[in-house]
Amino acid sequence: MSQVTLTVNGKEMSADAEGRTLLSQFLRENLGMTGTHVGCDTSQCGACVVHVDGVAVKSCTMLAMEADGAAVSTIEGQAADDGTLNTLQQAFQDHHGLQCGFCTPGMIMSAADLLKTNPKPTETEVRHHLEGNICRCTGYHNIVKAIMAASGQDVSGIAAE
Ligand code: FES
Ligand code: FES
Repeated sequence: MSQVTLTVNGKEMSADAEGRTLLSQFLRENLGMTGTHVGCDTSQCGACVVHVDGVAVKSCTMLAMEADGAAVSTIEGQAADDGTLNTLQQAFQDHHGLQCGFCTPGMIMSAADLLKTNPKPTETEVRHHLEGNICRCTGYHNIVKAIMAASGQDVSGIAAE
């Protein structure tokens, strides 16, 4: 066991971790940050995406110890302190980009990563970027719509689910 310290959503947090503890597990079990979901543990589903030092990472593919000292952003840090949703979260709500919500934290964090580098992505670019994120409910159309709407684009031409 050794101590791992992260700055999570701007707040320093520490806990002991074993060498084999995954970052996803560390966030959920050691720090109690359960907004990051785990759907597979085998790098398939994308439910566990967080940002580590500004880069989107599937947190089940990284050891907690590898992230020691890093700044981590999770879904819990996306809304304002008073609970006001950020633009992406609001767009997911407005365009029905979620049903059960299991994939949503990873979708939002992946989408935020896309919009950072490509503020006005095409539909094809959004779909391509989300290839590592699996949703079992929505059929993806409304997720794509939500992300494009969050980027300020007209989404009336995107096929409805
Ligand atoms: S839990 Fe990490 S990709 Fe599925
Ligand atoms: S909303 Fe259920 S898995 Fe995406």
